[in-house]
Amino acid sequence: MRFSLLLSLIGPALGAIAPPQIPLSSQPAPAASASDFTTFQSTISPNHSIRIKRQNATLCDTPVDQYTGWLDVGHKHFFFWYFASENASPSPDSAPLALWMTGGPGGSSMIGLLLELGPCLMNKDGDGTVYNPYGWNKDTAMIFVDQPVGVGFSYSDHDDTLPDNSFSSAEDMQIFLQTFISQVFPVHLKGPFVITGESYAGHYIPTLGAQIVKQNLLYPHHPQVPLKSVAIGNGLISRPDTIFGYWETLCTTNPGVPEPVFNQTRCDIMAANMPRCMDILKTCNSHPDPALCGAAETVCVDEVTGYYEREVGIGGRNPYDVTAPCDVDEICYSDADLITKYLNLESSFRTLGVPPAIKNYSIMSPEVERAFSRTVDIQISTEPQVHYLLSNQVDVLIYQGNLDLVCNTAGAQRWASNFVWKGQAEFTSKTMQPWASVVNGTKTEVGTFKEVNIKMVEGDEKTTRFALVTVDGSGHMVPLDQPEVALDLLTRWLAGKSFD
Ligand SMILES: *[C@@H]1O[C@H](CO)[C@@H](O)[C@H](O)[C@H]1NC(C)=O
Ligand SMILES: *[C@@H]1O[C@H](CO)[C@@H](O)[C@H](O)[C@H]1NC(C)=O
Ligand SMILES: *[C@@H]1O[C@H](CO)[C@@H](O)[C@H](O)[C@H]1NC(C)=O
Ligand SMILES: *[C@@H]1O[C@H](CO)[C@@H](O)[C@H](O)[C@H]1NC(C)=O
Ligand SMILES: *[C@@H]1O[C@H](CO)[C@@H](O)[C@H](O)[C@H]1NC(C)=O
Repeated sequence: MRFSLLLSLIGPALGAIAPPQIPLSSQPAPAASASDFTTFQSTISPNHSIRIKRQNATLCDTPVDQYTGWLDVGHKHFFFWYFASENASPSPDSAPLALWMTGGPGGSSMIGLLLELGPCLMNKDGDGTVYNPYGWNKDTAMIFVDQPVGVGFSYSDHDDTLPDNSFSSAEDMQIFLQTFISQVFPVHLKGPFVITGESYAGHYIPTLGAQIVKQNLLYPHHPQVPLKSVAIGNGLISRPDTIFGYWETLCTTNPGVPEPVFNQTRCDIMAANMPRCMDILKTCNSHPDPALCGAAETVCVDEVTGYYEREVGIGGRNPYDVTAPCDVDEICYSDADLITKYLNLESSFRTLGVPPAIKNYSIMSPEVERAFSRTVDIQISTEPQVHYLLSNQVDVLIYQGNLDLVCNTAGAQRWASNFVWKGQAEFTSKTMQPWASVVNGTKTEVGTFKEVNIKMVEGDEKTTRFALVTVDGSGHMVPLDQPEVALDLLTRWLAGKSFD
């Protein structure tokens, strides 16, 4: 039974035949000469080093400096793409940096880069890129990383066991970031550093954030990763809350639809089945065993989420936007296929210096996705890690496109209200308020928000921010559907400005 995250999105794709990615040129890609890359050996860990190469606007159309490369950890190699900020940092001795991670599990962060919020986006022919006026690197440098190993351009030298949980990759990512900001781009050493991402990154972001805070505390004399905040877009934090939110998303007009997506008959069936699904998921949560959690997933998919997910696929329903058609398998959006086409061009391989170990670039790794689905990672809530971040004064933003189903707003609101922490009472006492942004030159109401600022550490006046922000007229990928609003949202968050 399928249930993955970028979800059902992957579901239908697994069964479908993917067209082979044939490089358009018959020229074999020459192995990148080692001299193209500069190597930085980590001073903290003998097993970690970073290979980096300068790129120009040929590959990604942006005026800013850009670099690509790999973090090498023994036999594991993590691909990254770094872009400088368009605007200079107002403070001369510190420069902000934001990390982006696409979810999946198994999704390449090149989806975020080339389809959503990167400094450049795919052109319509899949043979080049165009400058993105709403790229997120206006006031911050950005780094996109393909992780865990096995995803996108990240690879392992031997076919050993694939990563199967959010915690293992976080360890390598923490050392990578530490080395990157202390040795490769020390301009970012004082931060602020922000982790952003989407979908299954609701798991990746809190686990990586917690790992960073933990290592900073454990090794105060090592270079610190100056984590200031996290921004989780349509993230999977709590599976039960997300599944519970299916009903509200499909059976009411709350997502911002004129009529509910499902009729009364279906809604009654889903509502009647919901308590059993919730009950079994609770058992999985208290006894996180793959057999139990797998059975719980089967019940919930068969009896609740499957009514929609079984109709997902080309020409059918789109799990990322309940109002949109599904154009292609994989992730429903046909532009995603252009990314595969573009990055598999012989010229792209050559420019990036892709090693012979990678035959083929895919935006989605079904192997990694399957490895995760055999563990309980998906059902395990990352709420404890979010709690740990807030307790250590890391600000947390949850932002949500309201038309999404797989990581729906109803579930995010339910989770945020039930989330037990020092700020819960104040947070739940508030109601969502509208917020406005300038869209196409006109100030427009674009969604709702609420937030609290809580003193988390005894004797420290500093307050920590927890915010939930929704965006109307947007599905799972807010920067794709509402680019102008998404950039405003990020800019306000980075600047510490209210959504009022
Ligand atoms: C490239 O990957 C796709 C799946 O993403 C696979 O179907 C195809 O056979 C691969 N092509 C090569 C040349 O390995
Ligand atoms: C480095 O890698 C080797 C071999 O994988 C391992 O035995 C060793 O513990 C690692 N060292 C550190 C500091 O992680
Ligand atoms: C950009 O890089 C490509 C490949 O690395 C190279 O062929 C091209 O001449 C460069 N363009 C500029 C303007 O430097
Ligand atoms: C409700 O929707 C389902 C699925 O679209 C359909 O098969 C069924 O006939 C509908 N029932 C009514 C009463 O309209
Ligand atoms: C803004 O303008 C673009 C291009 O004309 C259009 O596609 C989009 O729907 C507009 N957005 C809003 C919120 O009106």
